[in-house]
Amino acid sequence: MKLQTRIQLFTTVVLIVLLLAANTSIYFIFKNTSISSELNRLSNISNHILIEMNEKPDISMESMLQAYLLSDGLIRTVIKKERNPSIQVFTDNAYRTIPSSYYEKQFEGVIEFENSMFAIVSIPAISESGEIINLQLIENIDLLYENIQELKWVLVMTTIVVIIILYVTSGFVGRLILLPIQRLTNTMNMIEKRGSFEKIAVACESKDEINKMAMTFNRMMTKLEASYLKQEQFVSDASHELKTPLTVIDSYIKMLKRWGKERPDMLEEAIHSIESESHHMKYLTEQLLQLAKVEEGIEYEKEVVDIAAIVGSTIQRLQPSFKHTIHFLNASGYSYVKIHEQSFVQLLVILLDNANKYSDDSITVEMTESKGYVSISVKDKGVGIPKDAQAYVFDRMFRVDKTRSRKTGGTGLGLAIAKKVVEQHDGKIILESVEGMGSNFIVTLPKLEV
Ligand SMILES: Nc1ncnc2c1ncn2[C@@H]1O[C@H](COP(=O)(O)OP(=O)(O)OP(=O)(O)O)[C@@H](O)[C@H]1O
Ligand SMILES: [Mg+2]
Repeated sequence: MKLQTRIQLFTTVVLIVLLLAANTSIYFIFKNTSISSELNRLSNISNHILIEMNEKPDISMESMLQAYLLSDGLIRTVIKKERNPSIQVFTDNAYRTIPSSYYEKQFEGVIEFENSMFAIVSIPAISESGEIINLQLIENIDLLYENIQELKWVLVMTTIVVIIILYVTSGFVGRLILLPIQRLTNTMNMIEKRGSFEKIAVACESKDEINKMAMTFNRMMTKLEASYLKQEQFVSDASHELKTPLTVIDSYIKMLKRWGKERPDMLEEAIHSIESESHHMKYLTEQLLQLAKVEEGIEYEKEVVDIAAIVGSTIQRLQPSFKHTIHFLNASGYSYVKIHEQSFVQLLVILLDNANKYSDDSITVEMTESKGYVSISVKDKGVGIPKDAQAYVFDRMFRVDKTRSRKTGGTGLGLAIAKKVVEQHDGKIILESVEGMGSNFIVTLPKLEV
């Protein structure tokens, strides 16, 4: 069911229920109060008659009743066990035949006689002869019933008219509310069909929910576009990275085919270059695989370990193959962290390898602790990273200086892998660097209190 129909139906049904409840209450309250005020009036008259009967015993009962005769009705006295009233005065002859009944106690009510409604009040009293009788006042209340009936029709008609008006206006209001949503959906459909990252026009002055939704959509589009462009860039960089060594290998093979047999010096150079290019390709594909696999299993294979020990042993293992000395400063003592050991070591190797490659001086690894966190910083005194490049070093295949990096054999994937590993451990990695002075990569991980 459409939202507009739902709004329309819901508001109409709620109003029907409310109107029915209110109008039925009005109808019954009016009916009851009108009838009871009529009965009260009759009961007051009866009391007056009784008082006068006591005060003026010499006036005959009939003439007394005559004096109090109602505008449209009858007054009668009924004796127990007698079928017909003993005395009765009336305004209309037809009222004589209203069947009479004797009530033991005071009675007030409404009776129907020949399609007319009558209010009746019957009060027990003592007659002139000392008998117990019923003094009964009966009044025609057809006019009152007509009024009640009229009120009923007025209420029914207003209910119907209000419901029709409400049904139409709620449909209109529903359409008014949903129009911007409809417009938004149309734009989104168009964007989907075109496959583009277009934005929705947003009215700056309006702060309503629809506008907020459009703004969220636009933000999402910007993010999607950025990630799509990054992905595209990555694929193109990766294929370019693979194409370069393949082209080099291909040209050397062509050269070998032509001159290889006659020129042994060229043979040597070609074999060396082909070997180095194929090594680079192998390293690149391995790094690509690593990047793709970083998330696999990390969550389930984490263990609580003292990372100070792991940092120490990794440094020891790497030191012999490094051209620079690694100093390890551990101010924190034991630091227990829940990590995936293999990935954590991989992260350290990436940072230390960079510090070794891009620096000509010693490297310092420092471990510090703060409340709930442990930080490991890998600091070098090397070339540093220019300010404008710092935001991109964690991007896949980003290298500050392509020619320099090509010499050092990098792929630009190391820091991207490092960032993913850190994220898998709910940690953070930040870079502090001054070009020409050195770089400092700081990894912060949540600590376990043991
Ligand atoms: N300690 C550092 N000092 C100076 N520049 C650095 C340092 N670490 C990284 N960089 C720069 O950031 C770039 C990206 O580093 P990353 O580790 O991701 O790739 P790489 O070292 O080039 O290749 P890989 O690590 O995949 O072998 C590097 O090419 C280098 O330009
Ligand atoms: Mg690296």
